[in-house]
Amino acid sequence: MNSELFTAITEDGSLSLVSGLYMQLYHNRIGAYTEALLNYSNVAMAVLRAVHGVELPSTINILDCCFGLGYNSLVFAQELPPNIDLNVTAIELDPGVMQFVPQVLNQACFAPLRAAGLSRDDAAAIGAFARTEVHCPGKNGTYTFEMVASCLRDYWRQHGDRHQGSQHLILHDPFSPKKMPELWTIDLFERYKAALVDGGMVLTYSSAPAVRGAFLELGFRVYRTPFLGGKWGGTLAVLGDYMEEPVANGELAEHITPLGALEYERLVKSSRVPFRDPGLKSEREDILAARIAEQEVFFAEVRAQRLANGERVGPAGKRRKRKDAKLALGQNQILATDSGTN
Ligand SMILES: C[S@@+](CC[C@H](N)C(=O)[O-])C[C@H]1O[C@@H](n2cnc3c(N)ncnc32)[C@H](O)[C@@H]1O
Repeated sequence: MNSELFTAITEDGSLSLVSGLYMQLYHNRIGAYTEALLNYSNVAMAVLRAVHGVELPSTINILDCCFGLGYNSLVFAQELPPNIDLNVTAIELDPGVMQFVPQVLNQACFAPLRAAGLSRDDAAAIGAFARTEVHCPGKNGTYTFEMVASCLRDYWRQHGDRHQGSQHLILHDPFSPKKMPELWTIDLFERYKAALVDGGMVLTYSSAPAVRGAFLELGFRVYRTPFLGGKWGGTLAVLGDYMEEPVANGELAEHITPLGALEYERLVKSSRVPFRDPGLKSEREDILAARIAEQEVFFAEVRAQRLANGERVGPAGKRRKRKDAKLALGQNQILATDSGTN
């Protein structure tokens, strides 16, 4: 992978990177640390408490898919209450990114984790992709980082089975669906589903209908996570109905809300058609072309249904704009990962 990287400071003062290859900021411009705290860690804790009660499991297993600078797992570890062991399996393609992990962990925002026991050597080992056991006397817990240098799809094709029904939380944080649709397919999310415990969850910054549509099609309950500069917030997908009551009652409104009317509207249109990649090895162009073909069928079926209902419809040739044709390739602007269409 071409790891042409530039450092950037986000609005909360925390370090991020810009990918020269994808022209994309690694984090929400509001803050790398703030995003990890508000869109990932706080939401995950709220779900864990709703599912398990105040007494959280004594061991928590998480998968960090696209570890990058590690904010999502590291902030979660920092926020974890005492007396819990944490196992993180972290998958990341680019060693060039990982070299910044010690610098990330040296920031003031990670002072509590350092005070709890994470040493300079631990930070260097994580950054070098080494399996690292962090003993945290300050938390009475051990945090194990299993670092995997791999393409996400290769990892799931080759090793996905080892996680069957064991994970409490999957942090899904690749570059946007526009840039890398192959990392946002329903087939990858189906592997995630098999890896989760009952009540387990996937968290991502994306609110794209193709992403939420995929989770819904797989039987997940889908909610919105806090707005952070973006128009739609991120996405929480939970296995089981544990969150229905607390979310409906507004008990967790600070962290999790139901999807709004406008969001549901986007989810009954052809934009909800997911990206598909059954063998986890299709070419990007083929995934995009297959989705456009599936959307045409979706569109034709909706039109036929409306005609059958006696509704007025436009001429068949006058199709919706094929925005997807512009997807991914060669767009020459830097996208922060909070864009409303991500
Ligand atoms: C948005 S950044 C992740 C930010 C990260 N979660 C954090 O907290 O700092 C996306 C990451 O995906 C990685 N990546 C890109 N393609 C990948 C692939 N095919 N498999 C695994 N990781 C990939 C990039 O190297 C980059 O670190």
